[in-house]
Amino acid sequence: MRPGEPDVRVCADARDLSERAGAAAVAIIADAVSRHGRCSLVLSGGRTPRALYELLASTYRDQIPWSAVHLFWGDERYVDPADAASNYRMARESLLDHVPLPEGNIHPMPTGLALPDAAAREYERDIRADVGSGRPPFDLVLLGLGDEGHTASLFPHSTALEETERWVVAVTVPAAPPTRLTLTLPAITAADRIFVLVSGRAKAHALARVLDPASAPRDYPAAALRSARGMVTWWIDRDAASDSTGVDA
Ligand code: 6PG
Repeated sequence: MRPGEPDVRVCADARDLSERAGAAAVAIIADAVSRHGRCSLVLSGGRTPRALYELLASTYRDQIPWSAVHLFWGDERYVDPADAASNYRMARESLLDHVPLPEGNIHPMPTGLALPDAAAREYERDIRADVGSGRPPFDLVLLGLGDEGHTASLFPHSTALEETERWVVAVTVPAAPPTRLTLTLPAITAADRIFVLVSGRAKAHALARVLDPASAPRDYPAAALRSARGMVTWWIDRDAASDSTGVDA
């Protein structure tokens, strides 16, 4: 399979998706730690990954070398970390509060600066300071898919899709809350592995468009994952697969 070419895994339902993607994530984390002593893992926001995070904190907890795991975020709503909309808060509730992760290994996106662009630049400095300034060396990036094809906080027709140098930018998106920080395509597509978690019939149309090689990333940003350096695995459930031809739903 060529890098970036969709590796589509159809799961029975959201629970099966979380269990299978969780087990695969555990294997990738262990492999990264054995190969280079640590795993740089990027968390997705939204609702879908919560069940996976809960499994990492329970069923899979003791299979993960937490002291060697460094957590980053693929995007963040520009709100207080205690806000119900915060991706950091969701991860803290479902994962961080339940595993022995050293605080220094947790790299939330800063949302307390007056200027979101300054926060984006600070986060990029944090990433580079922690993992070095070569290519963004994320071992595994977890992503979701919006109903209209966005991923992270890269939305259709956003100028952020044209960013070629920066790893983190501030954006204004057509969703609540509108101000976000997001990894850019250069940062995401440089990852060794990418998982995209897609559950539910509401995603079926966007998923079919995103998996169609004819789709333009400007229209369906998650289609840009075809240019990824590493393997992109699409963990989808049957409902999300219902509009996609060529996948064994
Ligand atoms: C966010 C996410 C976003 C999410 C999709 C899917 O901050 O909202 O990073 O990209 O993954 O919108 O969200 P659901 O999993 O809630 O459907």
